[in-house]
Amino acid sequence: MPAADDLIQTPAEQAALTRLRELAGTTDGPMERHCVRCFTLAEEVARRKQLDIDREVLLVAAFFHDAALYLDGTQRHAAYVTDSRVFATEIGEAHGWDAARITRCADTIERHHEPTPQWSYGNEVELLRRADLMELVPPSAPLVGLDLGFLRGLWRRVPRKGLYGHIAMLVTADVRRAGPGVLPGIFLPR
Ligand SMILES: [Fe+2]
Repeated sequence: MPAADDLIQTPAEQAALTRLRELAGTTDGPMERHCVRCFTLAEEVARRKQLDIDREVLLVAAFFHDAALYLDGTQRHAAYVTDSRVFATEIGEAHGWDAARITRCADTIERHHEPTPQWSYGNEVELLRRADLMELVPPSAPLVGLDLGFLRGLWRRVPRKGLYGHIAMLVTADVRRAGPGVLPGIFLPR
């Protein structure tokens, strides 16, 4: 069974995973596995630092944090991290979340490329930011609360194979569609 399915505990989490698979057009692809690793890294840092997290909010945010890369130009209005907020809103509203949880999930998505700590927005926000950084720059792991040994164990269980190529393909498609002016919106926060 794909690692993502093992994480599912609630209907909202299942709906988010199903939506991600629709967007990606595949099950257990490089993006899905990236999302699984991001959630696992964030949850592990929370466990080690004894930080409270809203697990459902964190997992839904992890599934959708890069999701707007799959939207076409007619559906894109801002930096992709901002456009990705809509997925959190849709899932939260469909599953009766209160406004604070929807905002927390959306902020966790939108702020994951911010260059500075985001604790003031909530533990989930900063934890996913750190997790995504560890994914893209693995040597940063000790700086953001985890050891490389934990990362290597996770990589064996949820392989990174294809991640960089997949992201490059999505970014290239975006640039072809919208021109190089789209690049700052992909890589920079708001
Ligand atoms: Fe990511």
